Amino acid sequence: MPALPSGRDAPPEKELSGRNLLLGVSGGIAAYKTAPLVRRFKKAGADVQVLMTESARRFVSPLTLGTLSEREVLSAIFPDGPGDPESEGGAWTKHVSLGLWADLFVVAPATAQTLAKLAGGFSDSMLMATALSAQCPLLVCPSMDRDMYAHPAVERNLRTLSGDGHTVMPAARGELASGLTGPGRMPEPSAIFDRVAAMLSDREEEKGKREGPRTAGGTEPAQAKPPPYPLADRRVLVTAGPTREPIDPVRHLSNPSTGTMGFALAEAAAQRGAAVTLVAGPTALATPPGVERVDVETADEMHAAATEHAAGADLVLMAAAVADYTPAAPSDAKLKKDRQNGDALVLRLHRTPDILAALGEKKPGGQRLLGFALETDDGPTHARRKLREKNLDWIVLNSPTREGSGFGTGANEVTLIGADGREEAFDRMPKRALADALLDRVAASTEAADAHRGT
Ligand code: CTP
Repeated sequence: MPALPSGRDAPPEKELSGRNLLLGVSGGIAAYKTAPLVRRFKKAGADVQVLMTESARRFVSPLTLGTLSEREVLSAIFPDGPGDPESEGGAWTKHVSLGLWADLFVVAPATAQTLAKLAGGFSDSMLMATALSAQCPLLVCPSMDRDMYAHPAVERNLRTLSGDGHTVMPAARGELASGLTGPGRMPEPSAIFDRVAAMLSDREEEKGKREGPRTAGGTEPAQAKPPPYPLADRRVLVTAGPTREPIDPVRHLSNPSTGTMGFALAEAAAQRGAAVTLVAGPTALATPPGVERVDVETADEMHAAATEHAAGADLVLMAAAVADYTPAAPSDAKLKKDRQNGDALVLRLHRTPDILAALGEKKPGGQRLLGFALETDDGPTHARRKLREKNLDWIVLNSPTREGSGFGTGANEVTLIGADGREEAFDRMPKRALADALLDRVAASTEAADAHRGT
């Protein structure tokens, strides 16, 4: 079987060395978290220019961020006037030169106000004007109170930004400064750092592809830049998270899946222009921008929702960790440990539907189906068997026993196996970066198949 080159192999720090980063900070409480972020960027060898909105300056001192970044923080487009050394020298054009200078622009935290301005194309501060001028990818990290984050206007602005080709990192869920709990927290600086590293690495890879691989005999012809929305007009179904199989009204059988991989795939597919439906088991994750979410609990409910939405889908990505067995007769009343059951409770379980196998059996012509295989031993053999038996186009083999991979971790180390016999082993990388890598492979192969069929 031909082995394809491995995906990303540099540790995240390496990706930042010698890069120029813009960090836009807007006025939310999470602004204080940008101090460790700047420090980490600098330690990794990046040159960092901080741009703050006026209200951000109330939350964190420009002196702090200026000292950490070793560059004067910029806020207003027009400096203060007479006496300001920059006012004479045309400093107002700085947004243009910064936009050309940067390899990546991160806006963190991005408040509701800043999101609205970014989505609307405003240019009333150095941050906004530079965002309009920037010739590099933009990563937006929203942060605000729970109910603001759920407001349709904010959701609309996030969709607009995704649709414009920018990357939105969904807010994390947890305790908020207001005392409410829910999605709205700025992702942790370490998660933002990893995403920045992954985006820089992707950019380098794309550049490499455009310039063409170097061979012993010289340079091969440059490849065309991939289209910005390779999944435009495609309908994509993703399943994610665990299922819960009730034992009685207060207990269930489940597994430790957090849904991170499936949510990352849904977000990555939406960013590539697809109309995405995400069928999600119980998880704490916020819905990625632009994604339609259907919440389910049990394997039976997931089966029904997946079957309904798979009907019109071009691509189905089954990342859910579906329980294989469910209690045969869940009790309507809470089971008591004394009277009914004595010292040993025996549960009778029956098989749940294998959703992936069912979809594979009914797969309409033209639909592509990707499954996951979670194996603790002899992974490749089991994965290839599942690929064949479930009529899949690809299977992603992962091993939860590998350190730092699998359930409940932010990273994964997988092998993508195609029905055409191609295999590609990816190094361990953040799940969101892995979602990008997987979708790039899937989208490229879908395009090639379409071109072959003449559609
Ligand atoms: N899957 C599914 N429905 C099930 C069980 C699994 O759709 N009832 C899907 C998962 O979403 C995953 C794939 O099947 O994409 C493989 O899941 P995995 O747990 O690795 O394997 P199983 O097919 O359940 O086989 P086994 O438990 O014997 O390893």
